[in-house]
Amino acid sequence: MVFEGSYFSSATFDKADFTPDSLICVDQSGIIDRVISASDSDYQIVKQAALDNDILKQIPKGSYLLPGFTDLHIHAPQWPQAGLALDKPLNEWLNTYTFPLEAKFKDLQYAKKVYQSLIKELLANGTTTGLFFGSVHTDANLVLAQICAQLGQRAFIGKVVMDNPEQTPDYYRDASSKVALEETETFILKMLKLQGQTGSDITPVITPRFVPSCTDETLQGLGGLAKKYDLPIQSHCSESVWEDQYAIDRFNLRDAEVLNKFGLLTDKSIMAHGTQLSDSDLDLFEKTQSSIAHCPISNAFFGNSVMRVNDAHQKNVKIGLGTDISGGFSPSIYRNMQQAIMSSQMLQDSSHKPARLSASNAFYLATVGGASALHIKSGQIKVGFKGDFQIVQDQYFELSSNESDDIFERLVYHTNKENIKQVYVAGKLVHDNRGENNGK
Ligand code: GUN
Ligand code: FE
Repeated sequence: MVFEGSYFSSATFDKADFTPDSLICVDQSGIIDRVISASDSDYQIVKQAALDNDILKQIPKGSYLLPGFTDLHIHAPQWPQAGLALDKPLNEWLNTYTFPLEAKFKDLQYAKKVYQSLIKELLANGTTTGLFFGSVHTDANLVLAQICAQLGQRAFIGKVVMDNPEQTPDYYRDASSKVALEETETFILKMLKLQGQTGSDITPVITPRFVPSCTDETLQGLGGLAKKYDLPIQSHCSESVWEDQYAIDRFNLRDAEVLNKFGLLTDKSIMAHGTQLSDSDLDLFEKTQSSIAHCPISNAFFGNSVMRVNDAHQKNVKIGLGTDISGGFSPSIYRNMQQAIMSSQMLQDSSHKPARLSASNAFYLATVGGASALHIKSGQIKVGFKGDFQIVQDQYFELSSNESDDIFERLVYHTNKENIKQVYVAGKLVHDNRGENNGK
């Protein structure tokens, strides 16, 4: 494929770059192999060749190519609950609403119906890569993987592990530590097999739900499995005051220190929320090269606080954005970029270091930040990166300023699903919203 048009892409935290009128060439394996600007001598030759071969995709005036987003933290089985049940604190919410919902995913037909709806929705919102918590059920998680493979969603998927009888209900728990570890290993092997069979970009992830849900033996075993198979790890860390206090009471350690003690903080770890992380916790993240999934909508409901993105970034901790469905109600990373900016305004006070985030900062988290946490070459429009794109229409280009910085801010603040015209993962069309009579 050859895309012709203008694009935005971030190389640095501070500024998203605009590049006008280019040809972006994606090779057979889905990697960007050339970016040709209008002044390059062979622009017309390459364009004509692409036209002749019927592989030219022209981006209409007033629309732009953006990198696809990474959703760095999402609970797939909580999709039916997105926008509901936001009236209780975390631990009550889990027990009252969320564990009963997740328990239903034993039913594979139900899983299929929910997961098909979710993945279509994420692609339609410009999310090209997702890091998913599944449920405890190995088979339902494999259903999620199959659906991602079919629909073209790049996916990192974890079988949720929760075996601590003191913090999990009888009806929704791994039967024992032994079972939890065996099921995790079975899931890993079946995922690797599916990956081989389908050639799709799906990866298993070690997933202790959070420290309170797991026994010591299980946390230890999961650290071992991550090492044995060299896999990513995801969990929650310091999401709430309650969670932090729990770690102190049980281990006399901070939540991050507990994860580290069990080998669960590595350069492939992505920990959700981190609203309560202390300076020394951030240093530990930096030292272990672990990443944070910042979930600003969810944090307003369940963390009751704002994660210190700028402080973490200053310490070179990698950060991406997550929807945290259904702690967060929206499947849109745009909506989470907006909330990240808004929440950061509330963290700013006269005594505090600069906390405000700009539209460029939020876009960097949604693209480069998430992709680098997962060690994938995505999130930038640049040679050697995957052809993960969204074609987005600027609704107001005829009404307002057409300076590139203004267009960019408008895209960050105004884009909704209707304006996302097409989405590509590794050069393959995975969502098309142009309608029959709407060639745009
Ligand atoms: N901590 C443990 N489980 C969950 C969950 O499902 N959502 C959120 N937001 N926090 C959690
Ligand atoms: Fe979560």
